[in-house]
Amino acid sequence: MVTHVSMASLKLVLLLFILSFFNLNTCKAQEQNTDPVYLYHNCSGGNTTANSAYQLNVGTLFSSLSSKSIEFSNDTVGTSSSDRVYGLFMCRGDVPTALCQQCVFNATRRLRSECSLAKQAVIWYDECTVRYSNRSFFSTVAVRPRLGLLNTANISNQESFMKLLFSTINTTADEAANFSVGLKKYATKQANISGFQSLYCLAQCTPDLSPQDCRSCLSGVIGDLPWCCQGKQGGRVLYPSCNVRYELYPFYRQVTPAPPPSSPLLPPPASANSQGGGGISTGTIVAIVVPITVAVLLFIVGICFLSRRARKNQGSLKEGKNVDDITTVESLQFSFGTISAATNNFSAENKLGEGGFGEVFKGALPTGQEIAVKRLSKSSGQGGEEFKNEVVVVAKLQHRNLVRLLGFCLQGEEKILVYEYVPNKSLDYTLFDPEKQRELDWRRRYKIIEGTARGIQYLHEDSRLRIIHRDLKASNILLDSDLSPKISDFGMARIFGVDQTQGNTDRIVGT
Ligand SMILES: *[C@@H]1O[C@H](CO)[C@@H](O)[C@H](O)[C@H]1NC(C)=O
Ligand SMILES: *[C@@H]1O[C@H](CO)[C@@H](O)[C@H](O)[C@H]1NC(C)=O
Ligand SMILES: *[C@@H]1O[C@H](CO)[C@@H](O)[C@H](O)[C@H]1NC(C)=O
Ligand SMILES: *[C@@H]1O[C@H](CO)[C@@H](O)[C@H](O)[C@H]1NC(C)=O
Ligand SMILES: *[C@@H]1O[C@H](CO)[C@@H](O)[C@H](O)[C@H]1NC(C)=O
Ligand SMILES: *[C@@H]1O[C@H](CO)[C@@H](O)[C@H](O)[C@H]1NC(C)=O
Ligand SMILES: *[C@@H]1O[C@H](CO)[C@@H](O)[C@H](O)[C@H]1NC(C)=O
Ligand SMILES: *[C@@H]1O[C@H](CO)[C@@H](O)[C@H](O)[C@H]1NC(C)=O
Ligand SMILES: *[C@@H]1O[C@H](CO)[C@@H](O)[C@H](O)[C@H]1NC(C)=O
Repeated sequence: MVTHVSMASLKLVLLLFILSFFNLNTCKAQEQNTDPVYLYHNCSGGNTTANSAYQLNVGTLFSSLSSKSIEFSNDTVGTSSSDRVYGLFMCRGDVPTALCQQCVFNATRRLRSECSLAKQAVIWYDECTVRYSNRSFFSTVAVRPRLGLLNTANISNQESFMKLLFSTINTTADEAANFSVGLKKYATKQANISGFQSLYCLAQCTPDLSPQDCRSCLSGVIGDLPWCCQGKQGGRVLYPSCNVRYELYPFYRQVTPAPPPSSPLLPPPASANSQGGGGISTGTIVAIVVPITVAVLLFIVGICFLSRRARKNQGSLKEGKNVDDITTVESLQFSFGTISAATNNFSAENKLGEGGFGEVFKGALPTGQEIAVKRLSKSSGQGGEEFKNEVVVVAKLQHRNLVRLLGFCLQGEEKILVYEYVPNKSLDYTLFDPEKQRELDWRRRYKIIEGTARGIQYLHEDSRLRIIHRDLKASNILLDSDLSPKISDFGMARIFGVDQTQGNTDRIVGT
């Protein structure tokens, strides 16, 4: 009997011990203030002149829109019809108002600089849409300009997938058009593809549209899905007045109702009694279980406390305030002379390889530190300031399973990224070489898998930005001297500007 009890309590302790590791996630500092994600903008309608009444009104409109803490608003500024400006913003239905407001703030700031003289413009972020015009456009459907974005991964069973997609997204659209609680025309739906895979759909219109107008706008974007995303695992089409998106993962926040308040932590004593009648009394079990539970809870709290302290002291491994404070553009900028000298003037002997974004060279700084220098091909459309800003952001992502970005060099057309040098080449080199692959015993492979997963988890969840790698493959996993993996090329979508592969009005970009 005694062994029975101690086995049971041992199992309990073990269970709680395992649970405590899951609990670590909940005691982790909750600071995930993700920045709004810019997608695309279009200025049109001809130019006004600098400091005209119209331009000033646009400025007033922007301040007014970005001061509202709601999900949708339209506004009109200007008294005379010649300089009146109409504007509105809409946030995605699941976006909290604080993030919504930040999105509108960033969007109007970007419009101010990118479309400073334009009479009308539209800008899309993941979280919000902002438009303005000299024409009154409220309660009317606008279908141009349009934007298509696709997830580059292919879908396997195209025919049945597209069928499921259209039927699901049509019902999502019906629901969004008819939905009229608060200031929203928004709906999401989830459908089973198989037991393991789900399809997630979203549809939304600006709420100034009537249900019929909203549905006809949504029919337009849905009809454009084959244009943008035929055979792809995810995609979206955005018009100024409405948009749809689908993916194989939940990309929106689930707005779940609050769970019912009662939550018994311990099983009801009856179940303990029902099992065996003649053994230990309920009192004994309580006397054993309660102290153990308390002890384990204390243990969990202790672990939380210690791991927090450890995290605080970790500065150089995990992102933290101290890293934040010292990362400035100046501290990251290398002169072209330094880089040129370090790589022996980009000599062929120093060349390590060629990736999607340009050539890579090995180099050594005057301090002796070895570096890898990535010379970006010149097709990047991004301006210098934007490039610098993104480098500063990506340089803050530091983790032992990510290749560290040390800095950059910007000179005329040249854009160069400087990374730490990782000695053992990329995983594919070792993996597919008949001789070298023997070095990879199971223990090492496991270590590589685990490290890669940790790096990705950091990018997805633990860093302040949420970065999706979009091109994770063996050739982007580098191995250091003890064969620990380091992921490279993360954040390239930010640094390089969004990849644009189609004509002028109708952009398709990989996500
Ligand atoms: C409007 O001004 C921008 C620069 O501010 C210029 O690039 C563009 O060509 C102008 N458009 C027209 C129609 O004049
Ligand atoms: C917002 O749009 C509606 C029509 O949808 C219009 O009646 C109203 O005047 C607009 N509000 C402002 C402040 O422009
Ligand atoms: C968006 O606005 C926030 C707050 O003003 C700022 O910290 C952030 O850098 C902005 N992001 C972009 C991409 O402009
Ligand atoms: C808006 O601007 C365009 C281009 O300058 C002009 O043709 C149009 O008449 C203007 N519309 C109004 C209502 O002022
Ligand atoms: C997707 O399929 C197309 C041909 O249908 C092929 O060219 C492309 O490489 C595939 N992409 C991926 C990521 O598998
Ligand atoms: C979905 O709606 C579009 C038009 O909006 C229609 O062409 C298509 O047949 C519909 N598909 C399904 C499966 O209902
Ligand atoms: C939405 O409303 C329209 C009429 O306004 C109706 O025909 C349609 O069946 C409704 N759809 C849903 C899903 O309730
Ligand atoms: C999807 O499948 C799961 C299990 O396979 C099931 O529990 C769930 O009800 C299904 N959902 C829908 C919407 O069919
Ligand atoms: C912007 O939108 C207008 C109107 O749809 C279109 O004519 C123009 O080509 C677009 N400009 C760009 C750069 O896509």
